[in-house]
Amino acid sequence: MHIRFAQPSQVSGGTVAVGILAEGRLTPSAEAVDSATGGAVKRALAANPRFKGEREQCMALFGLGGPETIVLVGLGKPEALDALAMERVGGAVQAYLNQIGAGVAALRIDAVDGAKVTAKEAAAAAAEGALLRSYRFDRYRTKEKPEAKPTLDTLTVATDAAADAEAAFADRAKVVEGVFFTRDLASEPPNVLFPDDFAERCRALAELGIEVEVLDEPRMRELGMNALLGVGQGSVHDSRLVVLQWKGADDPDAAPLAFVGKGVTFDTGGISIKPSAGMEDMKWDMGGAGVVAGLFKALAGRKAKVNAVGILGLVENMPSGSAQRPSDIVTSMSGQTIEVLNTDAEGRLVLADALWYVQDRFKPKLVVDLATLTGAVIVALGQEFAGVFATDEDLAGRIIGSGKAVGEKIWQLPLDEAFDKQIDSDIADVKNIAGNRWAGAIIGGQFLKRFVKDVPWAHIDIAGVTWAEKDKPVVPKGATGFGVRALDRFVAAHHEG
Ligand code: BES
Ligand code: MN
Ligand code: ZN
Repeated sequence: MHIRFAQPSQVSGGTVAVGILAEGRLTPSAEAVDSATGGAVKRALAANPRFKGEREQCMALFGLGGPETIVLVGLGKPEALDALAMERVGGAVQAYLNQIGAGVAALRIDAVDGAKVTAKEAAAAAAEGALLRSYRFDRYRTKEKPEAKPTLDTLTVATDAAADAEAAFADRAKVVEGVFFTRDLASEPPNVLFPDDFAERCRALAELGIEVEVLDEPRMRELGMNALLGVGQGSVHDSRLVVLQWKGADDPDAAPLAFVGKGVTFDTGGISIKPSAGMEDMKWDMGGAGVVAGLFKALAGRKAKVNAVGILGLVENMPSGSAQRPSDIVTSMSGQTIEVLNTDAEGRLVLADALWYVQDRFKPKLVVDLATLTGAVIVALGQEFAGVFATDEDLAGRIIGSGKAVGEKIWQLPLDEAFDKQIDSDIADVKNIAGNRWAGAIIGGQFLKRFVKDVPWAHIDIAGVTWAEKDKPVVPKGATGFGVRALDRFVAAHHEG
């Protein structure tokens, strides 16, 4: 789908969507369309008591002459109308226009008295919401009937503030490209997206000015990354570590922000094998690495004034004759020995070496890792909130605040020495599970903390939010890309300029 911006007077033909405020109050555009159609809008509102202009509600008026179809779009109460609300409105309209088979449509945006956004901001936000919702992964559908495909080809956001809105939208569109990259990666099946394929897709980021390095197994062995390599040793696909560097700050030598992602391209559990029901979900166990890749696409796309390094730990966790066993002991890059009591607690093993490597080589200002680390975080926070753990309260607060600003909800969970004790091993320095059912998401975080030096660090467990089972206003069902927008906002708000 294409997004355009135009003055309202430049739009003719096609479907026109106009806003209706709470209790059926007409926006100026709705008034204009109402008079152009001899009162069709007011008649429709009177005829349908269920449509009250609640936010994201949509109603089509067909067969009126003039513009082919009019769509009334609920905006709700003006005082609740902020940029996030407008994103959701844009997403809802996009979906509705496809539902009614519109091919070319305009969405008219007015300045609304009492709203928290200007017309320019509202237009840019609605455009972003529409674009985010339009995502579709259809690479593998070869026989889809034309009538089953989305119809909406072009959405023109029509507003007096068109030029300013278009400029405000430009950076947002770059971030959306990053989100789409992440969604594509998580959607790909694991026979296609194995570690080397993932790494090759990252190489394409070099076009944007990102330095891309790919470490192979011999190199990782030299570096002592036996925790990561142990997870991949049962797979016929070799493991990889991708290093992304974006140097956008005025001083190219300034200490970077570090982002580290768990990239398990498929997690069978290994010898501690998972039950078969639902195992297909483990194709998106590379979601953390996917977010890091998408974040770098976003940062480079909008030329963020920041230095950042991204590390993607890419492995496939398979059971086989060469797979790692429960009770194996591996020596991590940090020198710490790890007793692997459950081969399904593999993400933390991958991250242990990835975290150590980034601190050792880059001396970053702060480290944020993302991982689909535990089922336990889904038990705690469901599919709405990601969990964040941090050694630095300011960092946690900024990540949570940035998430809030873009509609990605994140909730802090604690770290504590008492939990740390539970992963002391009888035979090695640390064990990869606690051996009881309690506080599994915290135990995962506590394990990672053993591989963090004296640097502000946050771990975001995105197991519950990486895949959506149902459509949401700006996220169609499937891979969400959750984390790209929050971290892009985190960088923009706290680490640029
Ligand atoms: N990738 C899983 C966590 C997961 C579960 C992500 C469901 C998304 C949806 C992770 O590697 C895992 O298997 N964790 C175990 C840890 C346990 C063995 C301590 C878990 O959560 O059961
Ligand atoms: Mn696992
Ligand atoms: Zn996993």
